[in-house]
Amino acid sequence: MNDQWTALLDAIQNVHSADATLCNFCPFPDDITHQPVAPFHIPSSDLLQQDVGLAQGPFKHIITAVQTAAPMAHWRQTYRGKNVSERFLDEFGCFCLIGTGGPFSSAQMNAWFVYMPANLTYPWHQHPAAELYYCLSGSADFFKQSNPAVTLTAGGSCYHSPNQPHAMVTQSSSVLAYVVWRDQFDQGARLCAPDDGDSGATRF
Ligand SMILES: [Fe+2]
Repeated sequence: MNDQWTALLDAIQNVHSADATLCNFCPFPDDITHQPVAPFHIPSSDLLQQDVGLAQGPFKHIITAVQTAAPMAHWRQTYRGKNVSERFLDEFGCFCLIGTGGPFSSAQMNAWFVYMPANLTYPWHQHPAAELYYCLSGSADFFKQSNPAVTLTAGGSCYHSPNQPHAMVTQSSSVLAYVVWRDQFDQGARLCAPDDGDSGATRF
């Protein structure tokens, strides 16, 4: 196991275990096992590594660890071939730390790092897993069905219930988030309408 992955896991475990919102959503798993990673590059990985303003604030050490691990990560292409812009495909970045394709596995939860540069929209989407976004650096506006929009900065979190449509928009700064999935994490995300399944969506 690469020491950089272990260092990143230890660092995020410390943050997770010290945060009541994260622990209430899902305790940090006690069944973690190692697994091999096949690195897969996308342009967003380069943007993350070159984002000199990202590593600041209370989670600076984790952000630096994410940037260090980025070349070894298997970056996802969840929305390639879907109805999204080429810019979104190039600039939105996500890789798994705990779960399929990541360096660690657990039956209790999945964990991801999600990166978006400034002035980018992550379109409305949904998935069967319950989800908690935890902002590590920067800021973004979070939209979810039947709720007012909220702006998260470092230490802020946003919960998405199973299949609740949600979206994210960055303004003048990039954002890096730690994202935890609970329960039905065997099925991925799909694009959707903001009012899928309900009539109370917040639109942007
Ligand atoms: Fe999500």
